[in-house]
Amino acid sequence: MTASGERMVGDLARAIDESDFAWSLVLVGEDQRDKLAALTSDLRGKLSTTGDGKQITSGYAYWGIGPTIAWAHACTDPFYLVMKQSLDSFTRRWGRVRGKLGDGFHYVSFGVGTGHKDGLIVEHLLERNPDMVYLPVDMSSEMLRLGTQESTHRVRLPGHRVVPVQVDFAIPQNLTELRGLVHRLVGDEPVLYSLLGNTLANFDDDAELLANLTALARPQDRFLLEVASTDAVSDELAQEAVEEYSRSRAYREFVTSALLHNTDLTINTDAVRFRGAVEGDRALRVKVIYQNQTGGDIQMMLPDRTRVPFPDGDTIRLYLTRKYLRKAQEEMVRAAGMRKVTATHSDFSAPRSAQGFGMDLLLLAPGEEPTPPVGQGKRTRADEIWEN
Ligand SMILES: C[S@@+](CC[C@H](N)C(=O)[O-])C[C@H]1O[C@@H](n2cnc3c(N)ncnc32)[C@H](O)[C@@H]1O
Repeated sequence: MTASGERMVGDLARAIDESDFAWSLVLVGEDQRDKLAALTSDLRGKLSTTGDGKQITSGYAYWGIGPTIAWAHACTDPFYLVMKQSLDSFTRRWGRVRGKLGDGFHYVSFGVGTGHKDGLIVEHLLERNPDMVYLPVDMSSEMLRLGTQESTHRVRLPGHRVVPVQVDFAIPQNLTELRGLVHRLVGDEPVLYSLLGNTLANFDDDAELLANLTALARPQDRFLLEVASTDAVSDELAQEAVEEYSRSRAYREFVTSALLHNTDLTINTDAVRFRGAVEGDRALRVKVIYQNQTGGDIQMMLPDRTRVPFPDGDTIRLYLTRKYLRKAQEEMVRAAGMRKVTATHSDFSAPRSAQGFGMDLLLLAPGEEPTPPVGQGKRTRADEIWEN
């Protein structure tokens, strides 16, 4: 960079840091017209009564100011148990894993949300690295603004070391660019990456997403993953999971908010349906769908002003989520090329919540589990007997 370019960047950083006005710099990585076109195309899917045609994929559910506000509102609803418990218990769970982290980390957060959890993480990391750089990454610029204000308002982190990045992290090319950006900013210093709030569960190909995100981690980096968990899988438990989501009105308003803002449908929150299923021997899956149950065929206007038929009984998948089988998590982590450094589990203590549902926070590092020295392999039943 030329001297005048460097001066300009320095002046801009000073102008932001010294102003009382709430400036936020955002790096926009994608043309938002392309995103709108992709959303429009997803809403043209085939007729399906089971949520397998038209859809709103993860990221678009939170995209824009309407869904951002609806999400923030849902997070405070005591009936939206997964999120409530995730937020309420995060301080304790983070307190248990952070000791294993060491000092000098920078922070890249995939999916900032309301920023409450990032606030706790930033506070801890900044105490141990006064020069830390914080990169919240999100598809929604409004979520970035909201979340970053929450995550940084209690700490003295100069504005120019907060670098919000607006990109869709489900696109591998975006991750390649992000990797280049992060490494240019921090050099060889370690980075903590995070994917919190069970965001992983929202993606059709969650295993691929986890592998793509964790591939950014170098040997000195760490990855913090938070997922909703279950001790067992069965059709009954899938129904319990469905009930947990369907109780919250604010959650229904959130999942329909992308439809409200991107189509001309008159939204009826009672037309939101929840379908639970067992996903192999790895998870309980809940599909949240919007069904035309007016008894007649409707025309739905899309963001490009075209109209598509939304026949009676047809559905739009609004959201996908899961609860991961706890004993399958090890394999999921291993398949992503990572190993568990430490983990905490917290059970749902809420009434009417199924036994065995909870949240797990896993601190991961790249590479395989170190092979134990000869003679210190896996503990066998015989070892246990000899110890007693
Ligand atoms: C379930 S919320 C979790 C928020 C926060 N991490 C927490 O635990 O409270 C998911 C967040 O990820 C963002 N997000 C979802 N899919 C995304 C994608 N494909 N690319 C970028 N951001 C995405 C959403 O905008 C939202 O902020």
